[in-house]
Amino acid sequence: MTRDLRMRWLTPALALLLALSLSACGSFAPNTIFGAHSEFGHSVDTLTRRLLYAGLTVFVLIEGLLIYILVKFRDHEGNREAKQIHGNTTLEIGWTLVPAVILAFIAVPTIKTIFETQAKAIPSALQVEVIGHQWWWEFRYPQYGVTTANELYLPVGRTANFALTTKDVLHSFWIPQLNGKRDLISNHTNYIWFTPDSTFAWNGFCAEYCGTSHANMRFKVFTVTPAEFDAYIKHQQTLAVGSAPTAAAADSGKTGAAPVTQVATSTAATTPASAGAKPPVATPVMNVSDTSTATYPRSKLPEWVIPKTPTPANLTFDESVVGDAARGAAMFKTAPCIACHTVKGVPTAAGMIGPNLTHVGSRTTIAGGIYPNDLKHLELWIKNAPEMKAGSLMPLFGKNEKGATPGFYTDQQIADLAAYLSSLK
Ligand code: CUA
Repeated sequence: MTRDLRMRWLTPALALLLALSLSACGSFAPNTIFGAHSEFGHSVDTLTRRLLYAGLTVFVLIEGLLIYILVKFRDHEGNREAKQIHGNTTLEIGWTLVPAVILAFIAVPTIKTIFETQAKAIPSALQVEVIGHQWWWEFRYPQYGVTTANELYLPVGRTANFALTTKDVLHSFWIPQLNGKRDLISNHTNYIWFTPDSTFAWNGFCAEYCGTSHANMRFKVFTVTPAEFDAYIKHQQTLAVGSAPTAAAADSGKTGAAPVTQVATSTAATTPASAGAKPPVATPVMNVSDTSTATYPRSKLPEWVIPKTPTPANLTFDESVVGDAARGAAMFKTAPCIACHTVKGVPTAAGMIGPNLTHVGSRTTIAGGIYPNDLKHLELWIKNAPEMKAGSLMPLFGKNEKGATPGFYTDQQIADLAAYLSSLK
């Protein structure tokens, strides 16, 4: 290659490299690992930077030396043979000791950080059980008797200790901004803990290939104030607003029999959510028409936690159909849904295979965090989940869907079910 040709390629190549480097700096990166928001994150971040800068220094020195030698001692007229240094004891000791010192410089802080982050969590930590499923996340708060899915609420300033297990294959629990990533391993409980230090909404991911929909195994994390967390937990401990009246009314002819596990604060067992009736009465704990007191306010959701997965083009739903929550509630009690899903307050719905749906209406996403939780997506999901998410273990229920095995729900029936599920705030 001539010198001219080399120069012709060098300039654009350097410009491209510079542009690529700069493009990484400008905008806010919602899923970066460099914005540590927990003490775990700060430890890892400090270590990473220290190693990166040390490595960079070594790189620049060595490459600089290399380039200098290549240029200075290149083959040209009048070159003498290079000085032979084989067996030079001073040099041998030198280039053994220097890397040893560099390795110690890397090893000491690394081992220190490993011990720090592998230590047992403090006893007062919030306990969270994380259970991986193909392809969604189950979260349990054993101290409060709350089970939820794909959405995690954590109080700022309190250490959260996660016990990680899996129902099937390997998964990996990862919230980049809060840092720390740990595998969920079959027949073994892994632990990880950290203390979120700021209120925000984050994305969580599965970071271990776990099958067809590995990339669709996501979750949302809301770090909230301790007071908001208490409100959230109190609300999650109640029966879902939509479930209490319908369960009681349908079972006992609207006599308002108190549901078994309803907490003392709830007055929900009053009116069934029948067609045209006013919306179910909110529990006094939360103003359910404004779920902001119990869950992260949807109006304040940052755009990066709102999923933008396109729905399959060949999957359609009759837009003119309007669902009826009361009809949906009546159907739900004996629908195949109950074989896999639990709704606290509906005695027949005690399935453990799929996500607990007690407060599904209060969640911001469905289907392992890949679709927004609204009527449209919920309807499409019930109609044909495998089409919405590759490999979904939830079967399709649309009457005329290709390959429908039970396949017995019309769009109207699905809309009723979706309306009911949405009412489970
Ligand atoms: Cu679960 Cu990848």
